[in-house]
Amino acid sequence: MSSSSAPLSVSDRTSPFAAAFPGLRRPGPDGRPFVHADAPGGAQVTDSVITAMADYLRRSNANPSRGFTTSVETAELIASVRDRCAGLVGADPGGVVFGPSSTMLIWHFARAFAETLDAGDNIVCTQLDHEANVSPWLAVARSRGAEVRFVPLDPDTFELDYAALPGLVDRRTRLVAFTRSSNLIGSIVRVEPLVEAARSVSALTFSDGVAAAAHRPLDQLAHGIDVSVCSAYKFFGPHLALLTAGPDLLDRFAPDRIRPAAKSGPRRWEMGTLALESLAGLGAAVDYLTATGYPAIAAQERELTVRTLDGLRRLRHVRLHGLDSAEGREPIFAVTVERRSTHEVASLLADRGVFVAAGDSYATECAKALGLPPSEGAVRFGLVHYHGDDDVDRILEALDDLRPGG
Ligand SMILES: Cc1ncc(COP(=O)(O)O)c(C=O)c1O
Repeated sequence: MSSSSAPLSVSDRTSPFAAAFPGLRRPGPDGRPFVHADAPGGAQVTDSVITAMADYLRRSNANPSRGFTTSVETAELIASVRDRCAGLVGADPGGVVFGPSSTMLIWHFARAFAETLDAGDNIVCTQLDHEANVSPWLAVARSRGAEVRFVPLDPDTFELDYAALPGLVDRRTRLVAFTRSSNLIGSIVRVEPLVEAARSVSALTFSDGVAAAAHRPLDQLAHGIDVSVCSAYKFFGPHLALLTAGPDLLDRFAPDRIRPAAKSGPRRWEMGTLALESLAGLGAAVDYLTATGYPAIAAQERELTVRTLDGLRRLRHVRLHGLDSAEGREPIFAVTVERRSTHEVASLLADRGVFVAAGDSYATECAKALGLPPSEGAVRFGLVHYHGDDDVDRILEALDDLRPGG
C-alpha cells in the first residue's frame, strides 16, 4: 500500500474501542477500512504503546545496572512492568520472567525442567494446544526416556475429554501442560479438572495463556496454576512474552545461564539484556487493558461472537469447526468453504480487505483430531474488542462471495 494513502477517520469503525489503535486507520486494498481479522496471530497496538516505546528510546535509553539517571529510570521501569504484569495475569510479582516469545520461554523452562525428569516419568499435554506448548515437552521427554500423553479433544463437542484424565495422570506424571484456550477453534479450557488431576499426584501445571490474555483475565494464582506464559503482542503490546511462576518454584530449577547471572529471582532466567523499549510498551499495554477492563472487553466480544455465529449459520457453503455458541469460546473461528482450499479462501478474502490465516495455525494435534488435512487446516479469523459489527459484516460478506457458483 502506498504511504500516501489517506488515513481513515476513526469514525469509519463501529467499535467504540477502535480509536485507540492507529493501525486500524490504514485503508485496505480496495480503499475501504481493512479488517484485520488475524488478532490471534497478533493484535494491533494502542497509540499509548507506541508513545511509551518511543519515549523510552528518546529519554531513558540505558543499561539498568548503573547509577546514573537514565539507568535508574530503566531499572525502575523494569521493576514497575514486572509488578504491573503480575497484576494483569494474577501472578506473584516476584516471579515474572521476560523473554522474546512464549515459544522461547516454554523451551527454556522445559530444558531446565528436563534435568529433573527420570526415565519412565510422563508429561501430560492436550490436543488443544499450540505446538509451542507441545514440541518442547516432546523433545525433553524424548531426551530423558519419558513419555508424553495427550488429553484427547472430542471432535463433536470441541472440548477436551476431561473424563480421560484419571487414565492419563498417574504417580509418574511430573507435569500437566495445557492451553487456556484454543488458538485455532477458540474453545476455552476448563482449568479445574486439569489442576486437580495434577495436584492429586504432585505434578506441576504449566499453562499457555497466549490465546486467552486478550479476552479474559488469566488469574493464575486463583486457579492454582504453577507456571504460565503469555505473549504481549496478542494483548495489544509489542513483540515479547512473559513467564510467571512462584519465585520458590523458579529457584528449584537450574536454567541455562552465564556464570555471573543473578543467583535467584527472574533475572536468573532472563538471558542477556532485555528488550527495554518493548518492556516500556508492555507496561503501556497492561495499563490500557487494566483501564479498559475485561468486563467491557467481554461484553463487546460477546456481541461480535453472536453476530458472527448468526451470520455463519446462514452461509450454507461455510462449515464452522468449533462451538456454535457464544459460551465457552473466544471469538476465534475456524471455518472451511465448500470446494475451495483454505489458502485460496485466505487469499480471496485478502483481496477483499479481510486479513485471515489459513492452515493449522500450529494447533497441529487439534487439526488432526478434527480430521482437517495437515496441509489445509482451516481458515481462521479472530476478533478482539476493537472490532465492530462492520468488521463482522465485512467478513461474512466476503465469505458469502465465495459461494460455489457465486
Ligand atoms: C496459543 C498459543 N501459544 C503459543 C504461541 C506462541 O507464542 P509466541 O509467538 O510468543 O512464541 C501462540 C502463537 O500464536 C499461540 O497462539
